[in-house]
Amino acid sequence: MQKIVINGGRPLKGEVAVSGAKNSVVALIPAIILADEPVTLDGVPAISDVDSLIDIIETMGASVDRQGETLVIDPRGIRDIPMPYGKINSLRASYYFYGSLLGRYGQAVVGLPGGCDLGPRPIDLHLKAFEAMGAIISYEGEYMRLSARENGLNGANIYMDTVSVGATINTMLAAVKAKGRTVIENAAREPEIIDVATLLNNMGAHIRGAGTDEIIIEGVEQLHGTRHQVIPDRIEAGTYIALAAAVGEGIRVTNVLYEHLEAFIGKLSEMGVRMTVEEDAIVVDKQENLKAIHVKTSPYPGFATDLQQPLTPLLLRAQGRGSIVDTIYEKRVNHVPELARMGADITTVGTKITYSGPNKLTGAPVKATDLRAGAALVIAGLMAEGTTEITNIEFILRGYSNIIEKLTQLGADIRLVD
Ligand code: EPZ
Repeated sequence: MQKIVINGGRPLKGEVAVSGAKNSVVALIPAIILADEPVTLDGVPAISDVDSLIDIIETMGASVDRQGETLVIDPRGIRDIPMPYGKINSLRASYYFYGSLLGRYGQAVVGLPGGCDLGPRPIDLHLKAFEAMGAIISYEGEYMRLSARENGLNGANIYMDTVSVGATINTMLAAVKAKGRTVIENAAREPEIIDVATLLNNMGAHIRGAGTDEIIIEGVEQLHGTRHQVIPDRIEAGTYIALAAAVGEGIRVTNVLYEHLEAFIGKLSEMGVRMTVEEDAIVVDKQENLKAIHVKTSPYPGFATDLQQPLTPLLLRAQGRGSIVDTIYEKRVNHVPELARMGADITTVGTKITYSGPNKLTGAPVKATDLRAGAALVIAGLMAEGTTEITNIEFILRGYSNIIEKLTQLGADIRLVD
């Protein structure tokens, strides 16, 4: 089993480039099934989720050519066969194959999704949307069959009881070739939804309103090939900005879309973090005298749930008492006991995390329980005096491309050990 070993307490400086967005590319790759020609994606991050998705789509018969960050996928060889079950449950986002296979073939036979341990990760809103469009859902052992064989999918008016990124995107994927109009009410507004809609529209789809809470899709007969640049990963960007404020002595984070991080940047400013916002970069100085704050997550454009964990080590440097409440995933607190093992004064009472600082962290053996918890432990390890060993790091490698190289380049003493 691999682990990350960090000798902390060293100041970091220099420049780090943000890669393409994981939560966009995990939908863009399945979306390509809907095209009748090859599609090229640029700016694809080097993360294991991408490796898994390529594996799945090749097993289904697509041909994939990967040159660095460019991916050319030709979907014409795909036959609508059951999904390769074994690979499904390593990746929650494999559920995007439901919408794209259903949208393309009127049928999908899939295994049930896996993913991080963030408490129950239901897909009831996805299935409700597919049923509204005429899909019949049946269960066969560990497989689930979604079928609209008779007359294909029909457009429908769908109201999302909960704001859901996955259900919003999956409904778009099913709707682009359905007969007639689909309206998604109470849709999620994340930038990744706009990115998927942009790809689909450039393939010939008719989607309006992506990024707002009402998305209107007019079904079309055919979708053709195109070339698409993946948007920068706002969660990776936020992670490196928090890291820069925690242990940096002048770090420039490039390939950042400021407008995707306004809530996050606002909270850093509230703490007293000094940074300079450039055209597509953010420069973070060495920080002194930070003030503890209260953080509450909410759907985009609110403070992202994915950034509350990576921000936490920086909060621990701040003067005073503060709190974090994650309204999206109440159980997203597994990093707290690990940070406490490093000497942090942080606890969880019910679903509220409270902390007080400033804290001097000490290196310790800790384990990553999910992707963003792992990122928090990397930052804490860089802050701590002494050696930190992080296990379960496969979570981290799922979402942070070239993280060892990027941190080494900033001067970190960090290595991957088998
Ligand atoms: C996406 O997950 C992201 N993953 C998550 O990022 C992110 O935390 C989440 O959106 C934020 O909302 C990807 O994009 C691959 P949701 P998703 O559907 O789509 C409930 C990371 O670290 N819900 O928006 O699975 C659900 O339980 C990951 O990169 C239902 O009740 O999340 C949650 O409380 C972690 N029924 C809320 O909605 C459903 O059918 C928001 O979930 C679907 C969701």
